[in-house]
Amino acid sequence: MTKKFFSLLLVAALGLTNLAKADEGMWLPLLVKRLNHVDMQKQGLQLTAEEIYDINNASLKDAIVQFGGFCTAEFISKEGLLLTNHHCGYDAIAARSTPQADYLTNGFWAASRDKELANPGLFVDILVRMEDVTPKVLEGITAQTSEADRAKMVSERMKALATEAKGSENYVTYVRDFFAGNEFYLFVYERYSDVRLVGTPPSAIGKFGGDTDNWMWPRQTGDFSMFRVYADANNKPAAYAATNKPYQPKKHLPVNIGGVEKNDFSMVFGFPGRTQRFMTSEGLKIAVETSNPARIKLRGKRLEILKADMDKSDAVRLKYASEYASISNYWKYFQGQNAGVKRMKTVEGKVENEAKYNTWASADANRKASYGNVLADINKAYGEQKEYTLSQVYLSEAALAPAAAKFALNLVPLQKALKEGKAEDIKKTADAIKAASKEYFEGFNVPTDEKLFAAMYQMYYNDVPKNQHPDIFKTVESKYKGNWNKFAAEAYKKTFLTSEAKLNAFLAKPTLKALENDLIFKTASSVYTNYTTNIAPKLMASKASMDKATRLYVAGLREMQADKVFYPDANSTLRLSYGTVKDYEPRDGVHYAHYTTAQGILEKEDPKDEEFIVPQKLIDLIKAKDFGRYADKNGELPVNFITDNDITGGNSGSPVINGRGELIGLAFDGNWEAMSGDLVYDKDYKRCINVDARYVLFVIDKFAGAGHLVNEMTLVTTPSPSGDQTVKPVEAITADKMEVKVKEGKVKTKTKKEKKKKK
Ligand code: ARG
Repeated sequence: MTKKFFSLLLVAALGLTNLAKADEGMWLPLLVKRLNHVDMQKQGLQLTAEEIYDINNASLKDAIVQFGGFCTAEFISKEGLLLTNHHCGYDAIAARSTPQADYLTNGFWAASRDKELANPGLFVDILVRMEDVTPKVLEGITAQTSEADRAKMVSERMKALATEAKGSENYVTYVRDFFAGNEFYLFVYERYSDVRLVGTPPSAIGKFGGDTDNWMWPRQTGDFSMFRVYADANNKPAAYAATNKPYQPKKHLPVNIGGVEKNDFSMVFGFPGRTQRFMTSEGLKIAVETSNPARIKLRGKRLEILKADMDKSDAVRLKYASEYASISNYWKYFQGQNAGVKRMKTVEGKVENEAKYNTWASADANRKASYGNVLADINKAYGEQKEYTLSQVYLSEAALAPAAAKFALNLVPLQKALKEGKAEDIKKTADAIKAASKEYFEGFNVPTDEKLFAAMYQMYYNDVPKNQHPDIFKTVESKYKGNWNKFAAEAYKKTFLTSEAKLNAFLAKPTLKALENDLIFKTASSVYTNYTTNIAPKLMASKASMDKATRLYVAGLREMQADKVFYPDANSTLRLSYGTVKDYEPRDGVHYAHYTTAQGILEKEDPKDEEFIVPQKLIDLIKAKDFGRYADKNGELPVNFITDNDITGGNSGSPVINGRGELIGLAFDGNWEAMSGDLVYDKDYKRCINVDARYVLFVIDKFAGAGHLVNEMTLVTTPSPSGDQTVKPVEAITADKMEVKVKEGKVKTKTKKEKKKKK
């Protein structure tokens, strides 16, 4: 497999291929017509390019939204019903939960619209349009423009174009750079901020398999939750109001329960967060050797501290549930990435390609002038940055991990205002702190935070080079003998940052003395000063040469393979990826099927392991094979399936769409064997893990008895194009008809027989 991987890279590197690889690539919907449509049709797409993306008429893009800025969701009814992952709704679900009404543990289903739960702070962004603004951003900039001038002009123009596009106050607009600053696109979104929780399965379904199964296949997770977008009487964005109406999307996705088969065309539409496929071998080495191990170590400790306290109290558990899940998600991700890079020999592969690039660049005088030094320049910049990598990692992963230390940063502007003594500024900054404090106090437990503080700063102190330490570390050394437990105990005892009453008392009459005597503030401000004055300038020093060299490197790569269609790295903008439903061979002698069934839930069930508890009702339904119209042709209930779509974090909640534009599933994860996928796409191993739409509807309908939600969707039963057409499809979508079929035993009998045969 590895050899094949290298020969593919070689072919690509030598520019011997002009094939747009169907499975690889996160494409800009605006360019699909030009770059991908023909290829997609060959693979099984039946839609026109305009049906996918059109700014004048309703198209698929109108059904896809960015959820909360970090995930994807899609409209599945004309009444604004949104489907996303359980792990995307997790924070909102936990925030709505109390030990008495624990929706995270027990699930929640709004029986009627008025029972849907508001979520302050949550919003969705609906794309209005995107536009290539490269010529406008780069106008008049030439190879002779200095890097500093270029950077200034580019950033000013990006801002100006975004401002110009901001037609209404509800518009969110920005220009993002693509291909490392070679291209620029403008995005115009409409932001809706009345987004209510409609339904979620219990965690035992939505997070079944927990952290053990996370990033793994085979999987049996019902990773979905449902929200509804509300709008004012004119269908426009509005702050939460009981009188708001369900938003009416221009387009919603029909849900197909006719079945998914191997080799079916699949398209994933969503908001992938970040890939770094153009990262060079030197950058990769820093990640693998320095930053990833540090992140794994720090996160491991944080998880241990949080877990101990979460296990002791339901209130503490709910406070930290969401934070714990996200720390743990990437704790495992970094481990997988390191294992993947090692296994796939990603660094070696990049080194080889870079050598070819240099050979290509030096073969011609003009090329040599433009591209001959870029890799050397990139490597030099990495060399300079490497020294400060730990400071960078420990800032976010250790120093700002304790909630109190992070919140204390909000007081830095107040310190400045107090020093300057301007009453107006003092009041303004104090008010801002008060406004931010509500969320802060809701989200942490003081004794847990103190333990985190002691542990994180101890590790920072031990692991980061001494000459890069914040000043406060000297105080801890001299006054506390370097004992961070002692320091933390005193800091948390005396601080005004751990109680709302104390903070408000301070803010009512803030003095510089009280502020600067607070040991938590003192620590945070010392960390901040150290970073901004000693670390960031060092990192910035090489930034300009790094930016320039990277931009040229990518431009050169595209020139070198002139007939290859390139896609840009993910950057949280709307993308489309297409591929097929596909099984794989994770290692020699092992085959993984392309789907799992509910039987796998019973196989993994373990009432003694919190990650594998199965609700009794689900056990009963599975044992009785009471799957209604959601069973597959063998009478089994499909749960998850995999495709070779190219996705990454941020795509969570993205619809998996068939060739006719119908939703067949919901993307929720990537697989362990391809965890290096954000750095290099590997067609043999990279898979996208999805919940089957039939399992989603089964849980809503049969498990939760919330059939009214299924009734508002547009259901389709057309069978899979690759499917076994001899099996009669389900004709009509009336639940009772299918129930009868199942009860008659038609479907069931076949399965029983099959089972017997197997034995
Ligand atoms: N790995 C998934 C992603 O990043 C998140 C899965 C959440 N589940 C969990 N057990 N932490 O999209």
